[in-house]
Amino acid sequence: MTKAGIQVAIDGPAGAGKSTVAREVARRLDYLYIDTGAMYRALTWLALQKDIDLNDESALSLLAEATDIRLLPALEGLKVLINGQDVTDAIRLPEVSRHVSQVAAVAGVRVPMVRLQQRLAEECGVVMDGRDICAYVLPRAEVKIFLTASIEERARRRYLEMSAKGVDITLEQLQADIAQRDKEDECRDVAPLVKAEDAQLLDTTGMDREAVVQQVLQMVHKAGG
Ligand code: DC
Repeated sequence: MTKAGIQVAIDGPAGAGKSTVAREVARRLDYLYIDTGAMYRALTWLALQKDIDLNDESALSLLAEATDIRLLPALEGLKVLINGQDVTDAIRLPEVSRHVSQVAAVAGVRVPMVRLQQRLAEECGVVMDGRDICAYVLPRAEVKIFLTASIEERARRRYLEMSAKGVDITLEQLQADIAQRDKEDECRDVAPLVKAEDAQLLDTTGMDREAVVQQVLQMVHKAGG
């Protein structure tokens, strides 16, 4: 059960540790955690499965409107279901990571996603992470954070995560993929990755997870959460 509370919005680039931190903060506050990147990843996974041309914006938009995406709280974070199928692990594969920016850049994909995100954030305390949460999805969030870290550190964190799961990828490849994704997310026309004016910058380079979690919790308590 999640309790009433405030909205905590966390944006930032790939591999900054948003999901890990957001999930842990939500757990300690007994808030709902919403990983919006997982939604774009799930749709990308489905589009790849269905062999949809990722340049075909109307096909992707139709797919997004017709697809049922659910995020269910689970022991190890969130379980991601798309049309009832569990894709929690599949959406983290490099193949999905490489294509997700392209899918997330489609305006017709973002509309139903944002609608779903806003609906999920109604009526309870929520920690939501993504790219456009502070400025666009939850503009009235009481706490807004732009979480980042150096690209070397972000690649290293992702590498450790992937290696632990047995995914075969090199640190160099991961760093190149992250740099490419940053560029695509920052340069797109629709909801580009930028720090919202009213978001607080939190650079986590050299900080361990607990220190970041504590800092976010302090911001939440200060805001009355
Ligand atoms: O946070 P992540 O790496 O799982 O996000 C996957 C992709 O989805 C990333 O390329 C940016 C995109 N994304 C987005 O455009 N808007 C969001 N709110 C969340 C993620």
